[in-house]
Amino acid sequence: MAEQERTGHFVVAVDGPSGSGKSTVSRRLASATGARYLDTGAMYRAITWAVLRSGVDPHDADGVSKVAADVALTIGTDPAAPHISADGVRVDAEIRGADVTSAVSAVAAVPAVRELLVAAQRALIAAPAPIVVEGRDIGSVVAPEADLKVYLTASAEARAMRRSAETAADVAATAEALARRDRFDSTRTVDPLQQSADAVVVDTTGMGIDEVVDRLRDLLFARSAR
Ligand code: DC
Repeated sequence: MAEQERTGHFVVAVDGPSGSGKSTVSRRLASATGARYLDTGAMYRAITWAVLRSGVDPHDADGVSKVAADVALTIGTDPAAPHISADGVRVDAEIRGADVTSAVSAVAAVPAVRELLVAAQRALIAAPAPIVVEGRDIGSVVAPEADLKVYLTASAEARAMRRSAETAADVAATAEALARRDRFDSTRTVDPLQQSADAVVVDTTGMGIDEVVDRLRDLLFARSAR
């Protein structure tokens, strides 16, 4: 907690493509600095879970918008115990499944969904306690005033290797699925994945997790000391 006292309130925005190490690194950075942790991707995934549960086609923007407006999301921000519920149902495991993963990009491209979730994310960030927030549009849209903006990236090969180790899926198939999702997330009309001009780019290819977390912690302390 001494570090938290030293840095006071802060917002760290961590953006980047799938498999860049965002989740592990953001969660570990939050733990190491006494901050809260917000996984915004989990929110898009939970809405997608609700869309699939209701039988609505993920490409039907009107249907998706209705589901998003009706579903009640609850997300925890303790980095030691992340959890998310939709309409009171814990969906932590379900949102990582293949069905949600292949439909989430379409749901996340619906403007009404983004509007709702960006507002919810800003309300969570506004609470008076430091926070590390990970996603695709955090530095550019959700928290443009963040104290530190990081864009994590890694080679396509390293990202596919990491994801397939997590999911036990074939590396080539994972690489193809990642490329498809990144293309979709980067080219959608509303709030695409983009690198903010003022973000620090960290290429995690060949870096260990501890190394990346230490790097971000140093960057954060250097900013707070200014
Ligand atoms: O980080 P992730 O794989 O859990 O994110 C799931 C999807 O949600 C991803 O395809 C892009 C989308 N997403 C987004 O559009 N904006 C965010 N802030 C976070 C995730």
